[in-house]
Amino acid sequence: MEMQFKIFRYDPQVDAEPRYQDYKVKADPRDRILDCLNKIRWEQDGTLSYRMSCGHGVCGSDGMRINGVCGLACQQLVKDYEGQEVLVEPLPFFPVVKDLVVEMEGFLERIREQRSYLMAAGDHPEKERHQDPKDRQKVDDVIRCILCACCTGACPVMGKNGNYVGPAALVWAYRYIYDSRDSQFRERLKNIDFSDGAWSCENFFDCTRVCPKKIPVTKCINTLKKEIEKSRS
Ligand code: SF4
Ligand code: FES
Repeated sequence: MEMQFKIFRYDPQVDAEPRYQDYKVKADPRDRILDCLNKIRWEQDGTLSYRMSCGHGVCGSDGMRINGVCGLACQQLVKDYEGQEVLVEPLPFFPVVKDLVVEMEGFLERIREQRSYLMAAGDHPEKERHQDPKDRQKVDDVIRCILCACCTGACPVMGKNGNYVGPAALVWAYRYIYDSRDSQFRERLKNIDFSDGAWSCENFFDCTRVCPKKIPVTKCINTLKKEIEKSRS
């Protein structure tokens, strides 16, 4: 099948304005959108820039907006776009480095602000810190996050409040708040208890809809809000 692509092109160092470029690609219905981008870059236009690494939904590097929906290019099958022009754009709300490559530093800084590492009490044990399987279940969903930023690019609140910490940062807060081995429960809750923290979420659920790892992002944020309220009383 022949696929028609319209791809966002912009090199801020050279171009005054972004533009869209058309490409045609011969594809197998079982190909993914990422395979088509690779064909364009390898066979037609080596100047097209995008990130990819694993090609299998593991590394989180190829988050982009495809026909208006944020997702991983390596997880979108060509057959699902049959008969349509495929519009490929960078993740919204992120500064563009070039074409589909966005600057991730601000996003990652907000994850780091959650002190996204285990802070256990007491001395280091000789071996690993044990965790009951039932306790582990509490973080089973959120532990799947691959930092693709699709949730953040899809969140309407990010469009009106650039200071919002964003859904991914709250997923990482959740991941350690409910880790039975961590000792910073109250401090971590305080860290997201402000207007641009958990309280900015307006329950649009777009983050949940696009998350390639099926993390119930909005539900997690609502659980955090309830936990904050409980900790205040
Ligand atoms: Fe990506 Fe989902 Fe993690 Fe958001 S919560 S960064 S969409 S894996
Ligand atoms: Fe790694 Fe898509 S290339 S998640």
